[in-house]
Amino acid sequence: MIQPPTQPQPLLDVRDLRTYFLTDGGDVRAVDGISFSMAEGERLGVVGESGSGKSVTAASIMGLIEPPGAVVGGQIRFRGQDLLQLPEKEMQKIRGREIAIIFQDPMTALDPVFTVGSQLTETLRIHRNMSRKEARTVAIDTLADVQIPSPEKRFRDYPHQFSGGMRQRVVIAMALLCDPALLIADEPTTALDVTSQAQVMDLMLGLAEDRGTGVMLITHDLGVVAGFCENVQVMYAGEIIERGPAGPLYANPDHPYTRGLLESVPRLDDDTQNHLYSIRGAAPSMTKPPQGCRFWPRCDHATDKCVSEAPTACCGEGSQECACHFAGTFELETDRAGV
Ligand SMILES: Nc1ncnc2c1ncn2[C@@H]1O[C@H](COP(=O)(O)OP(=O)(O)OP(=O)(O)O)[C@@H](O)[C@H]1O
Ligand SMILES: [Mg+2]
Repeated sequence: MIQPPTQPQPLLDVRDLRTYFLTDGGDVRAVDGISFSMAEGERLGVVGESGSGKSVTAASIMGLIEPPGAVVGGQIRFRGQDLLQLPEKEMQKIRGREIAIIFQDPMTALDPVFTVGSQLTETLRIHRNMSRKEARTVAIDTLADVQIPSPEKRFRDYPHQFSGGMRQRVVIAMALLCDPALLIADEPTTALDVTSQAQVMDLMLGLAEDRGTGVMLITHDLGVVAGFCENVQVMYAGEIIERGPAGPLYANPDHPYTRGLLESVPRLDDDTQNHLYSIRGAAPSMTKPPQGCRFWPRCDHATDKCVSEAPTACCGEGSQECACHFAGTFELETDRAGV
């Protein structure tokens, strides 16, 4: 009998993930039922305005949610294994070795009282069981990979002896040291000046590509996502409201929120004197989000149906999906392909 072709196992498969913060003022539904998948080596951009749940998604995958926060539902499968069912000891082996994270502030990953070299070698000795000598060689090579000049000398320096850009390179070296299958980069360059931002981003994504590392890139910069990510997902108020391949999605966003985000990005090739669009209103309360579609109070196209009925959530299975009752019926005023 001919067997149907089997789908390759995803690198990461998140199903109906819910992460809430249980506060005196009520449950903050920071991530509220999101589902998505990433293939091995995929580069996925995660965008959405402040407070939409991007960092909480990342922290949930890493098992770094602390009280009063808790993952209250769903599954996070990494190469088939549900991370939420793993004891902390097993999760520690995955964290850093198979899934690494880079935060906006490099000092969250570096310990100021140890030299950069000792922190790098320690990671290799714990996760990869290397001898001191072997670890030193690999650490220096990795510092060279992230283009730190004189890596043998810098190996002996403390984090405060590095500039902000160089420090973030050290963090990238640390993240890539154990050759993780998934790198989560949460606004990795926001703290840097514009020139260093571009260099560090290029470097990080180039190294990840060479190594076949899957990258989840969380950013406010829609341009970076267009340049580097195959797929993009847009978060709003704890939900994924649109997702799909970056090129087609940017050229033809189906959700009015995505369209608003794209229209609020300045473009060099736009010589009209039009004011940039800005989405009216503010992000909703995550304790009592609006009934129906969470975006309706800010949407120019909302109808009674939007107020009373939540649209079907994106499930991470179609090529371009959108959680809007009227998906794709809005005209985009300008051609946004390749922001
Ligand atoms: N420790 C906490 N206690 C209570 N609420 C929290 C906590 N951490 C996050 N939240 C809430 O969870 C929601 C999602 O936050 P998150 O940090 O994921 O946003 P984000 O999309 O990463 O935003 P930004 O772009 O500003 O980084 C927000 O409403 C935030 O206030
Ligand atoms: Mg964040």
